[in-house]
Amino acid sequence: MQFKLTEEQLAVKEAARDFAQNELKPGVIERDSTMSYPTEQVKAMAELGFLGMMTDPAYGGGGMDTLSYVLAMEELSKVDNSCSVIVSVNNSLVCWGLEKYGTEDQKQKYLTKLSTGEWIGAFCLSEPEAGSDATSQRTTAEDKGDHYLLNGTKNWITNGGSSSVHLVIAQTNPELGHRGINAFIVEADWEGVTVSAKEDKLGIRSSDTHTILYNDVKVPKENRIADDGFGFKFAMKVLSGGRIGIAAQALGIAAGAYELAVAYAQERTAFGKPIAQHQAIAFKIADMAADIEAARLLVYRAAWLKDQGLNFDQASSMAKLKASDAAMKHTVEAVQIHGGYGFVKEYHVERLMRDAKITQIYEGTSEIQKIVISRNIFKGNQLYL
Ligand code: CAA
Repeated sequence: MQFKLTEEQLAVKEAARDFAQNELKPGVIERDSTMSYPTEQVKAMAELGFLGMMTDPAYGGGGMDTLSYVLAMEELSKVDNSCSVIVSVNNSLVCWGLEKYGTEDQKQKYLTKLSTGEWIGAFCLSEPEAGSDATSQRTTAEDKGDHYLLNGTKNWITNGGSSSVHLVIAQTNPELGHRGINAFIVEADWEGVTVSAKEDKLGIRSSDTHTILYNDVKVPKENRIADDGFGFKFAMKVLSGGRIGIAAQALGIAAGAYELAVAYAQERTAFGKPIAQHQAIAFKIADMAADIEAARLLVYRAAWLKDQGLNFDQASSMAKLKASDAAMKHTVEAVQIHGGYGFVKEYHVERLMRDAKITQIYEGTSEIQKIVISRNIFKGNQLYL
């Protein structure tokens, strides 16, 4: 077991850190306030190769390991979580899903554009009445011979307004339960696809979250992903990998708040000395550091398991559970350490505190992660390496 990053991994981390601190930080407060989609920043991230980091270079990607992707997510998330969620969904859910389960034609037609960031993708599973209970899909795709007819409503869709391609999960045969679910590649400009207004959210405010309506959308047969009836397992497997990306986002939020709190505690004086020298603050900082490091080990381990081709379902849920709890708890502490300054936008920690909450909700709530972990335990999956 070794805990040292490679030269390549360190270079990716450094590049992401530079970009986040120098390019994302200057406008992040304004974009958050006005809910402005980060168009220029997404373009820059595409040019830097952040949108298809793990995809095989044969399909336009960076061919990197999952840990490199995690390191980039962590650095971007210290600053701008609207940008990092765009990176996460495009890499983990869309590109990885297509690379692992798509046909060669699907990869040539879609993955090559998605991995370079020429197109952005969305993952459309959640519905007004099927969020956590993902098998209860109401969206239907009726087999019409040479095509499917897609009807339904998806909500909470990240990249809903900015994506060119949607991966849509739909019921094709309700009698078969989860075995009657399929996944489809749908182009956003096809007739019958309508994107509703952008949601006004607590956090990640400049990422575009929308409800999408599909009304008699004709989806060619060749746009179904994998074998008939594999759609639910496709969604579960892709989400399992996606949870590593969101765990890395949560880790970055916690670590970003921690870095700001450490710097502030050393600058700010009260009662004649820097507040870092008051035990009340020093103990908070120590707790933050220990919890963040524990979360980091879980996140990196989940990434490593995925790269080894080992089962990572339980590990990714554990990483997301613990990293998102650390993000929530320690962004609150970082605001507390900043006192009144923490409550205003200029100091960045209040935004990280608002952003932290979504990491306990999307790609499966904390309760869903506990379901996945406990089911794996009772299936006999081992906890340690
Ligand atoms: N990989 C492969 N197959 C899997 C799997 C996985 N990780 N997890 C489950 N399956 C399989 C099971 O083996 C089972 O197959 P068999 O019947 O052949 O054995 C089948 O799928 C059904 O599994 P379950 O019985 O466990 O299904 P369930 O109905 O009890 O649900 C659940 C399990 C874990 C609760 C699941 O519904 C779930 O993860 N829900 C949360 C969904 C979610 O994360 N939504 C987030 C939306 S996307 C998003 O947020 C993106 C964004 O925009 C940021």
